Amino acid sequence: MNLPLESKIDLTANLEICRILNGMWQVSGAHGYIDKNEAIKSMNLHVENGFTTWDLADHYGPAEDFVKIFREQRIKEQKEASLEDINFFTKWVPRPQKITRELVNKAIDISRKRMGMEALDMLQFHWWDYQDKNYLKAISFLDDLQKDGVLSSLGLTNFDTEHTEEFLEMGINIVSNQVQYSLIDRRPELLMAPICKKYNIKLLAYGTLCGGLLSERYLNQPEPFGEQLYTASLYKYKNMIDRWGNWKLFQELLQTLKKIALKYNVSIANVAVRYVLENPIVGGAIIGVRLGVSEHIEQNSKIFTFALDQGDIEHIYQVLSKSNDLLQIIGDCGDEYRR
Ligand SMILES: NC(=O)c1ccc[n+]([C@@H]2O[C@H](COP(=O)([O-])OP(=O)(O)OC[C@H]3O[C@@H](n4cnc5c(N)ncnc54)[C@H](OP(=O)(O)O)[C@@H]3O)[C@@H](O)[C@H]2O)c1
Repeated sequence: MNLPLESKIDLTANLEICRILNGMWQVSGAHGYIDKNEAIKSMNLHVENGFTTWDLADHYGPAEDFVKIFREQRIKEQKEASLEDINFFTKWVPRPQKITRELVNKAIDISRKRMGMEALDMLQFHWWDYQDKNYLKAISFLDDLQKDGVLSSLGLTNFDTEHTEEFLEMGINIVSNQVQYSLIDRRPELLMAPICKKYNIKLLAYGTLCGGLLSERYLNQPEPFGEQLYTASLYKYKNMIDRWGNWKLFQELLQTLKKIALKYNVSIANVAVRYVLENPIVGGAIIGVRLGVSEHIEQNSKIFTFALDQGDIEHIYQVLSKSNDLLQIIGDCGDEYRR
């Protein structure tokens, strides 16, 4: 299967990515057992089908190690050139502490070693507590690593608008901010969007499928509880839906999305992701994949076969207008990690 050209976007002059990124939180152990060999096979399958961009983190269990195995295998079997169009974006999520240059360099070196990469395609930086100003030191040391070529690009994750702008005003070369953005959580459309436009940075959206809840599997189904929420992702986003509204309203949304999906011969998940991708501030949507356990390669390629029209958006907004205001309840992007 070949994805159309529309599936690619240039994040920078030297960085073209697939607009559907493969999310590797799902190999962390919190979403069930993942077999290493099956996972590597599945990584190859995704890449062969055009899904060439990967999102991971230093704390996603063996994700960084899987990248190294995948890369080494490919170099052995198909030569180094076969890796040229494949990107791996990791994260550095330090616990709050005094930040020194040595500490930053050491953390990045660990990721480079684990991933078997001289330079990281992108490092996305997370910070837990803005009261602790060490984040300013961290970003300037990361910026130095970018200037030295150790990081090919620098991104953020879960930064709010105020602190994203603070970095951009300092002249730090930030490419993207990875935040939760879905039909349930549209906070990025409010405060973050103008800053993205002003400084031409892109969002990488996660949670676009609410862990799979935004799909036919949950249409006309009773509310899931406890063990029925069998991955960390389902648990996380069921909580988000509870804050957004309730299961009855969520069913109304699924029914509306199903009608739209039928119109384009696609699925509810396709419509949910398409909505996010159609926002010009969005570079890509990260879809979690339980590598070797459950794949949606063919279905997710359909995201590029249609476009939502004004009528579709109006129908969706009619439902969403009945939901709670997450900006008021939770705060700006990423504040769910800080309160
Ligand atoms: N920066 C952060 O703080 C942060 C936080 C969360 C996530 N992330 C990133 O975002 C990624 C996405 O994870 P997420 O937790 O937000 O999950 P998600 O992408 O909302 O949901 C992933 C799940 O959706 C289901 N799915 C995928 N395609 C589907 C389709 N076409 N039809 C029906 N179901 C489909 C799969 O469920 P099954 O496996 O059951 O089939 C999959 O496991 C993570 O891996 C990570 O890279 C980042």
